[in-house]
Amino acid sequence: MSSQSVVFIGAGNVATHLAKGFYQAGVDILQIINRHFDKAKNLADQVDAQPADDLNSLMKDADVYVVAVQDDAVQNIVKDLSLPRGTLVHTSGTVPLSQLSNAAPESGVFYPLQTFRADQELDLTQAPICLEASSSETYQQLKALASTISNQIHPVDSEQRKTIHIAAVFLNNFTNHMLACAEELLSKHNMDFDLLRPLLEETWQKVRHHKPSDVQTGPAMRNDRQVITEHLDRLKNEPELQAVYRVLTESIQRKYS
Ligand SMILES: NC(=O)c1ccc[n+]([C@@H]2O[C@H](COP(=O)([O-])OP(=O)(O)OC[C@H]3O[C@@H](n4cnc5c(N)ncnc54)[C@H](OP(=O)(O)O)[C@@H]3O)[C@@H](O)[C@H]2O)c1
Repeated sequence: MSSQSVVFIGAGNVATHLAKGFYQAGVDILQIINRHFDKAKNLADQVDAQPADDLNSLMKDADVYVVAVQDDAVQNIVKDLSLPRGTLVHTSGTVPLSQLSNAAPESGVFYPLQTFRADQELDLTQAPICLEASSSETYQQLKALASTISNQIHPVDSEQRKTIHIAAVFLNNFTNHMLACAEELLSKHNMDFDLLRPLLEETWQKVRHHKPSDVQTGPAMRNDRQVITEHLDRLKNEPELQAVYRVLTESIQRKYS
């Protein structure tokens, strides 16, 4: 089971990192299929694989097929698949395992709990890989494959994965949006986001060693109504930022009151 062959369907952020990670670990990447051929070829060239843009030319002799496409495209892709052998997995935080069950003898989920952009380097060894499989043998197969790229492998069922995905949206996507709100506000007043970078560093340092709920600070936490009213007033010409400020302030007040 140590030397497995893999086909990727999709050539976006996740496919790029996983394919390159597997390739560097010595896993045989047979084929990259993507609806836009140029992206398939670009990734295939980097991992010595065959590029294709048509599922009719899907190779049928791989051990694992990784569907790494947009969540709402997974169903559409797998409904036309009927693999005679191998394990079909997807990489989504939300799509249930059951969506794959008729398309291949074995199926699984290979959900990397990290944020990926194809154009940014990432240390995959520290990325938790959440695995689910249609049988215990397939779980062991996927675990062997995951361990070629990551030191953190976790069994996670479809229900748990949905909850993890929501938590990840709060932690990563919403946090990043908060930073973008701060960037926007400073920029509108001709100041640079770099001014906030030391604060950003300190914020991360704190949550690295403490529970986030133990280190909350700020006017909402202190219930400093005068400051909150003044902030909301200063944001009156920025209705979007004001609405976000209000919702988060109320949420913090409810949690810590
Ligand atoms: N990015 C992350 O941080 C991250 C982390 C964990 C899990 N995931 C999950 O991994 C999966 C892939 O995410 P990603 O970030 O790699 O996406 P992405 O970079 O946006 O790439 C999406 C891929 O899906 C293909 N695609 C989109 N719509 C399609 C359709 N209707 N039919 C066929 N192919 C279609 C795209 O093909 P074209 O190139 O031809 O458009 C592209 O190959 C998603 O399920 C996502 O939830 C993502």
